[in-house]
This record gives sequence, structure tokens and C-alpha cells, in this order.
Amino acid sequence: MLPSVLLNQSNIHDLLTLRLKHYGGTFDFKGPWFTNVASFIITSDPMNVHHITSKNFSNYGKGSDFNEIFEVLGDGIFNLDSNEWKQEREMFHSLLKRKSFKIFLEQNIQKKLENSLLPFLENHATKIIDLQDILGRFTFDISFNSIFGFDPNCLPYNYCNEIELPEIRFVKAISEIEDMLFSRHYIPKCIWKLQKWLNIGKEKKGKVAQENLYQFLYKCIEVYYKGDDDKSDSSLIKEIMMEGLRKEKMLERYVRDTVVNILFAGNGTVSTGLSWMEQTWGVDCLEFKPERWISDRGEIKHVPSYKFIAFNAGPRKCVGKDISFVQIKMIAVAMLWKFQIQVVEGHSVIPRVAVGLSMKHGLKVKVNKRSI
Ligand code: HEM
Repeated sequence: MLPSVLLNQSNIHDLLTLRLKHYGGTFDFKGPWFTNVASFIITSDPMNVHHITSKNFSNYGKGSDFNEIFEVLGDGIFNLDSNEWKQEREMFHSLLKRKSFKIFLEQNIQKKLENSLLPFLENHATKIIDLQDILGRFTFDISFNSIFGFDPNCLPYNYCNEIELPEIRFVKAISEIEDMLFSRHYIPKCIWKLQKWLNIGKEKKGKVAQENLYQFLYKCIEVYYKGDDDKSDSSLIKEIMMEGLRKEKMLERYVRDTVVNILFAGNGTVSTGLSWMEQTWGVDCLEFKPERWISDRGEIKHVPSYKFIAFNAGPRKCVGKDISFVQIKMIAVAMLWKFQIQVVEGHSVIPRVAVGLSMKHGLKVKVNKRSI
């Protein structure tokens, strides 16, 4: 299978979907013996997902291959197994469930909506914008503000001129790292390791991006250290530092790894696991039909998480799911209340080849103010 994957790199999602369909939802991915590509099983069958993520969870640790591919995440929660993972997960739970944090987060989202997103859309009424880029900036600002207590302004406040939004180096860095991480799944290990050693191709881009991101985070941590006492107690950084001290880890590294994990998590994560399969959702699976999750009596239909796997399932299910839904609902309500949003006719929506499932050409839309 490896040669066809390499020949179809730009189309890998479609290729894997066809294979899954052909083999009834599960197949064995094998590289040639000399390439060192780990042989792995690809599945979209909800019962297999249930078996792996819940019923036999302890048999399916992430393991050393995962750690090697995702080295950028360091010793953060995504890379941990067993007891270390359990402790880190407890820390995340207690961080995110604090009432003061939830209030802080909701206030941040509301402020950002009122001062950035809605004025931006108002300024761009009747024009074409890339909604994926705008919402990516919005969520990055929110995640960052939740961690450090200040807004990096990727989507600026009271933006009112016609100049294109500047590219943000560290946001771009995350997507370049994601590209590299995905290619490490299908390029033979000996080849990507050689590319890394020779410092060429995606490995070179990823390495530069990783250094940029780390440097930026070290600077933010330093600014936090040196800052005045007027810091928001509700942001996460103080608790993360205290946890690092408690665990007697190298503090800067612990904080860096934890923050990188949150930023990757908030950025969409490993949601390529979301398989939009005919076998799972029926023959109309490609149609936009939100009503498929609403019952005849107007109630939300419950779908088990091993079937709707976007947030993962079982003991490792996403700890940020609830706060993500708060954010999604607040943004959707605020936008749809004031604007009509229409995807530009003919705009091609295809997936980007990376670990996070985003759109290669963004989402070009036209925004019109609603007349009430
Ligand atoms: C729409 C947004 C999000 C989606 C689709 C999503 C999806 C996921 C998925 C699929 C996983 C499992 C990854 C794996 O085990 O390899 C995961 C884990 C995780 N997510 Fe999210 N996530 C989102 C937002 C967030 C946010 C905002 C946070 C904030 C802190 C967060 C925190 C985490 C953490 C800490 C884990 C690791 C859990 C563990 O390994 O025990 N996520 N998420």
C-alpha cells in the first residue's frame, strides 16, 4: 500500500476512505519490509474504536513510536501513558473545572466577540473572507489568553482598515509542525529520520517552526515571571507552574511542554480520526444534514462517542470538550444573530494533509448583515 500512499500524498484522506470502504471499515497498512514503516491497522468501525478506546483501553497505550513522531509535544499529556498520564490528566481536570476559570473564559470569549470578531465582520460585510483563518485566529487568541492571561491579538481589536491581516509566525508554526507530523505517519521512519538529520524537506520546515514556537513560549514564560503582581489569577499558567514545582520537574520545560500540548489541543488536535463513513452514517453521509442528530420529537439524538469520535472516546476522551462547546455555541449564536454567511460559489473544500482536519483552501465566505 505504501507506494500508492506516496503517489497520492495530496489525496491521502480520499485514498484511505476508499480503502476503508473497500475492506468494510478495517484494514492492515503494511510498508515494504525494508522501509521500517510500522505496520498498523486503520479502522473506522465503531465497535473496534469502542474496543480500543474503552473496553480494552489498558492494552492500547500510545507507545514509543507515537512519542517519536510527536516529539514536539515533549512530556505533555498527549505523549504520556500509565501513571504519568493519569496524574497529568487529573491536573488538567482540576484546572479546567475551576469555576473561576470557566467565568474567566466566558468573559474572554464575550469580550473578543464584541471587540474583535463582530466589528471585523461588520467591516467586511459584502466582501469575501476566509472564515477558517478568522476563526483560527480567534480560537488561538482565546486559548493563549486562557493560559497566559493576555491576548496575542492575532485577530486584532477594533480592526477597521482594509489591509490584509498579517501572517502570525507562531500560528503558522503550529500548522507547519502538523504537516510534518502527518508525513511521519506514512514516510518510512529511516527516510524521515535521514531527512531530519540532513535538515531537508518537511523535516527542515518543521524543525524551524518548532524552534520558533519554543522561543516564543520561553519569552512568554519569562515575561510572566518578570511581570508585575497584577496578573490574572484565573489564567492557567500559575497553576501549571505550581504543578511543575510539585512534580519537581525542570520548570521551564514542564511549562513549555504543557502549554504546547494545550495549544495543539485547542488548535483542533488529532481529529483526523473523524471518519465520515457511509457504513457509520448511512448513504446520505456526504449531505449537510444537521437534522440527522435531531429526533422526530425535536430532541437531540444521543450518539455514543466511539461512533462520533471527533473528541475521542473512553478514558482518554478530550478534557476540553465542554469548554470547546461553550466557545462554539457562543461564536455561532453571536455571528448568526447579526450576519448571513454564504460559502462562495465554486469554492473548493478539500482537506489539508496534516494531523488536524482543516480545509486546504480555507473557507471562503461572503458575509451580509441581517436586516432585522
Ligand atoms: C473543537 C476542539 C477540539 C477537538 C476536536 C478536540 C479533540 C480531541 C481529541 C480527538 C483528543 C484525543 C487525542 C489523542 O488521544 O491522541 C483530545 C484530547 C485532549 N484534548 Fe481536545 N479537542 C478540542 C479542544 C480542546 C481544548 C480547547 C482543550 C483545552 C485544554 C483540549 C484539551 C485536550 C487534552 C488535554 C487532551 C488529552 C487527553 C488525554 O490524553 O487524556 N481539547 N482532544
